[in-house]
Amino acid sequence: MLTALMQALYVSAMNGLDGVIAAETNLSMVDGERGELVIAGFAVEELAANATFEETAHLLWYGALPETSAFRDDLARRRSLPPGALDLLAAAARAKVDTMDALRIAAGTVSLRGAKSDDEQARDLLAALPTVVAVYWRLLNGRDPIEPRADLGHAANYLYMLTGAVPSVEAVRGLETYLNTVVDHGLNASTFTARVIASTGSDLVSAIVGAIGALKGPLHGGAPGPALDMVFELGSAERAESYLRKKIEAGEKLMGFGHRVYKVRDPRADVLAAAAERMFRRGGDLALYDLARAVEWISIRLLEEYKPGRRLQTNVEFYTALLLHGLGLESALFTPTFAVSRAGGWIAHAFEQRRADRIIRPQSRYVGARDRRWADATRTASGRITEAEAEPCSR
Ligand SMILES: CC(C)(COP(=O)(O)OP(=O)(O)OC[C@H]1O[C@@H](n2cnc3c(N)ncnc32)[C@H](O)[C@@H]1OP(=O)(O)O)[C@@H](O)C(=O)NCCC(=O)NCCS
Repeated sequence: MLTALMQALYVSAMNGLDGVIAAETNLSMVDGERGELVIAGFAVEELAANATFEETAHLLWYGALPETSAFRDDLARRRSLPPGALDLLAAAARAKVDTMDALRIAAGTVSLRGAKSDDEQARDLLAALPTVVAVYWRLLNGRDPIEPRADLGHAANYLYMLTGAVPSVEAVRGLETYLNTVVDHGLNASTFTARVIASTGSDLVSAIVGAIGALKGPLHGGAPGPALDMVFELGSAERAESYLRKKIEAGEKLMGFGHRVYKVRDPRADVLAAAAERMFRRGGDLALYDLARAVEWISIRLLEEYKPGRRLQTNVEFYTALLLHGLGLESALFTPTFAVSRAGGWIAHAFEQRRADRIIRPQSRYVGARDRRWADATRTASGRITEAEAEPCSR
């Protein structure tokens, strides 16, 4: 009995590779027990609030901060999309596909530029992804796309291409803080995907397209939107306690709380909360921020009351939603904006995997049948079975 239980636990952990160390990295360290995230040697709190996104990408890719503006200028020159990408995005907008699907479709067109080296492809990708999201978003909403501006930084240009207005210094700092905060986070599913593809010797564009596909899944890229919906639904802090109690008692999860790795407060939540507070304060209206803060503390108290010992704390999604909403982004743009940032980490991991120079090729343990005979399997009472009658099998 005990053996069967242990076997089941082993298989479920193995299916998710829980606790398996599959790579060595210099890029980020996640300590879920202590609530620490280190990115390229810097505590996330320090890096996120100070670096530009280009500096963070340079740091991750080349191991040091840039000494000149050459990297930033080079990225700025690579922002325009090839005509083929615009045609595809226009077709995607007519079909009203999800923005992450449009991003996945158009990211592959970076190959049309013909860059051969990893470094050139990496720069083309990082520069083009914000353009893809902004162009698609505008087409989807019946507006003309806006040409990128090379005189603006990566984050400022992204907001500019989305809205058509040059953003304030505060808005740019808010977005850069977000992009730096979520750029890398250990061996998460999309990063692992990028590393597996890079390990086969395939190109960087393929690695990033695969990673976008992995990030799109609701179990990974998540849905920061619902965390904010909960705050909006509430409307006032007075209603929070009874509303949240009802939700927990009905067996619902409170969005923006709990994490598979962090058993204390996700350090990214604090960085994003501080950035959101700065932005809302400068905007002169702290009402939504104060409400979110109140909802957060009531939620944590109630989760401890209803789920004692589970250590359910605020996760990154809660303040992502608040910060990106404060920047004027609609919730459908939250996950694509996450991808715009995480691409910096994916590429750094792909570079690292190239240096490891070994294909990632784990093994599976066969638990299927071994004693089938062809004649038995294809014979039924009336003769050979048809394809439609056959059991589906996974290919
Ligand atoms: C993130 C998440 C999937 C982690 O899941 P996990 O590590 O598998 O956590 P578990 O499912 O083991 O949770 C342990 C217990 O806490 C409960 N729980 C976990 N997160 C909860 C939440 N946000 N609200 C209410 N209860 C929660 C579970 O129902 C479970 O209860 P039980 O022991 O009575 O069955 C989960 O916390 C969750 O769904 N959170 C809400 C969605 C969210 O914010 N996602 C973004 C993550 S960055």
